[in-house]
Amino acid sequence: MRTPKTPVASAGLAAEPADVPAEAFAAEYSVRPVPAAGPVDTTAICNTPAALEELDALWKAVVQETRTRGNDIHLPISLAYAERLCRAYPGADAELVRVATLLHDTGWAHVDESRIISEGFTGDWRKAAIRYEHEQQGCEVARRVLPGLGYSPAFVERVCEIIDGHDTRPVARSLEDALMRDADRLWRFDRAGISLASSWFAMDPATYTDRLATEIVPELITQAAVDMATADLNRSNALLKTAVIR
Ligand SMILES: [Fe+2]
Ligand SMILES: [Fe+2]
Repeated sequence: MRTPKTPVASAGLAAEPADVPAEAFAAEYSVRPVPAAGPVDTTAICNTPAALEELDALWKAVVQETRTRGNDIHLPISLAYAERLCRAYPGADAELVRVATLLHDTGWAHVDESRIISEGFTGDWRKAAIRYEHEQQGCEVARRVLPGLGYSPAFVERVCEIIDGHDTRPVARSLEDALMRDADRLWRFDRAGISLASSWFAMDPATYTDRLATEIVPELITQAAVDMATADLNRSNALLKTAVIR
């Protein structure tokens, strides 16, 4: 005989506080995925590397942070996608998207590395404590490196608002936040992302690309990202012969 589940007592549990910026963003961009307002480039991402030399000083400031968890692959490719997304959504503050994307995972370099795989990619990995820690540490990196490069305190805090919660908060709070989140997912659809991230999740490429299609595409916020992801996935599946090697 099964024991009936006892309802979780609601008494004493405070209701989740309203996320006002997230609700405002959802109301302003109620059509999902958000339609693009500018050109959408769905060719392979290596055709348009992130080329803005103005960020070279920022890259130099975080070289140490790129040496953890494949950040030296993940961050430049994500930035290339972020710049494409900014061209598709010209209403976004492109500098904010670019800087937040470049820095968003630098916090991985300042957490216990042994826990990155053991906690960060298994079980309910989005809610693992190590995920919150890497977000907070990423904000610390931003606050350490950005002021010396001429970024204003207000800009630095806007960057931190995007970094803080980029993995653990389920919804975006602004268009810039949404574009960073989509760029962070898009890199996985490129062959470099598949080869690196499939190993983190201990999956073969076919299993991983199946998961990209069923779990990650529906999470994308913008139509431009959906179009890029779909084109990348088709190319990567063909290249890696995932229809046969499974
Ligand atoms: Fe992250
Ligand atoms: Fe990331």
